[in-house]
Amino acid sequence: MKEIKVGMIGSGFIAGVHCEAIGSLPKAKVAAHCDIDAARGQAFAKAHHIPDTFSDHGRLLQDGDIDAIIIGVPNCHHAGIAIDAARAGKHVICEKPLCLSLADADEILATCQQNGVLLCYAEELCFVPKFVRSKEMADQGAVGRVYRVSQTEKHEGPYSPWFWDVAQAGGGILMDMGCHSIEFARWFLGKPRVTAVTAWMDTVVHGERTPMEDDVIILLEFEGGQTALLESSWALLGGMDSHTHILGTEGVIHADLGKGMGLQVYSGQGFGEEAEQTRGWSFPDYEWIWNNGYPQEDAHFFECMRTGKQPSENGEDGKVVLEIMMACYASAAAGRKIQLPYTPPADIQTPVDIWLRAKA
Ligand SMILES: NC(=O)c1ccc[n+]([C@@H]2O[C@H](COP(=O)([O-])OP(=O)(O)OC[C@H]3O[C@@H](n4cnc5c(N)ncnc54)[C@H](O)[C@@H]3O)[C@@H](O)[C@H]2O)c1
Repeated sequence: MKEIKVGMIGSGFIAGVHCEAIGSLPKAKVAAHCDIDAARGQAFAKAHHIPDTFSDHGRLLQDGDIDAIIIGVPNCHHAGIAIDAARAGKHVICEKPLCLSLADADEILATCQQNGVLLCYAEELCFVPKFVRSKEMADQGAVGRVYRVSQTEKHEGPYSPWFWDVAQAGGGILMDMGCHSIEFARWFLGKPRVTAVTAWMDTVVHGERTPMEDDVIILLEFEGGQTALLESSWALLGGMDSHTHILGTEGVIHADLGKGMGLQVYSGQGFGEEAEQTRGWSFPDYEWIWNNGYPQEDAHFFECMRTGKQPSENGEDGKVVLEIMMACYASAAAGRKIQLPYTPPADIQTPVDIWLRAKA
């Protein structure tokens, strides 16, 4: 089996997660790296024992040894880098959200297809062992006919300044965490078409940092009659919440990925490098990377590269999620349900503009 050589783009949180995930897999390694911030890139490459690092992704793409790249940079750069990579013949793992416009999504998909490379839409929730097991049970009929997927992704707000910036992020909590819940619900139900979207959103606590939404509630209607009730927030104190309730006509499944996974610790003074966050009750996870599905996501994509199979989470999924998110902004802006397919206004720069215009 040939070793797969990956080029990592970015040195932030998710790049570190993928490096660790790939380090746990056989016959795959991160062989080159790029960050626009050269000093940060060098420190990252050294920490992860990556031989080459560049400050321009074009240089990395010239490396003939690299089979695939992972895009772990701010959302506004996803499309440009994915298209350049596909033109250079590299397979692409693109972090969520796929990009900031449906036109860019079409161009990414077309360029990958024209150049014979595979595109993974990196939605790791579909690889989380706890959620995979829940889906297996539901598919076996354990809870009867599933009529609703309820999914929550919440924390107290992002760590890097670009997340708060309209031009770089393209949206607030919806584009950051709402995209996870949307794709999770689609995947869990077997990807039926979403026919209508109703969304409420507001900036409830972070108005001094961003004009974008930090709290959102979404109702998706699927063909076939199922619904998804999704809540995402940057306004939650007390640690990350990620949980799911699967409601069926003959049962229910509760799956808590956040506070239901780890140990339950009460520490009067807090501990480790995160003493502030670990003071009082905390839920330290073990095997966090595995429990969150990242190695499984990368392993699945590498398997697809070896066999030529389409990844189970691919560019089409990323485009559908983006269209749903745009419909969410339109719904919150108009205060009513939006039917899909949805075509956004032609003159918006980013998805969140649809909502920001109505707020202004
Ligand atoms: N799937 C997940 O669980 C998950 C979690 C976090 C972030 N993400 C996604 O991953 C992406 C990166 O997020 P992050 O949290 O790692 O961000 P981060 O701020 O921690 O890191 C971003 C890195 O990208 C670098 N960078 C910026 N522009 C660049 C460019 N043009 N070329 C090369 N490097 C560039 C920055 O210097 C920085 O090192 C985002 O799209 C985010 O939505 C996914």
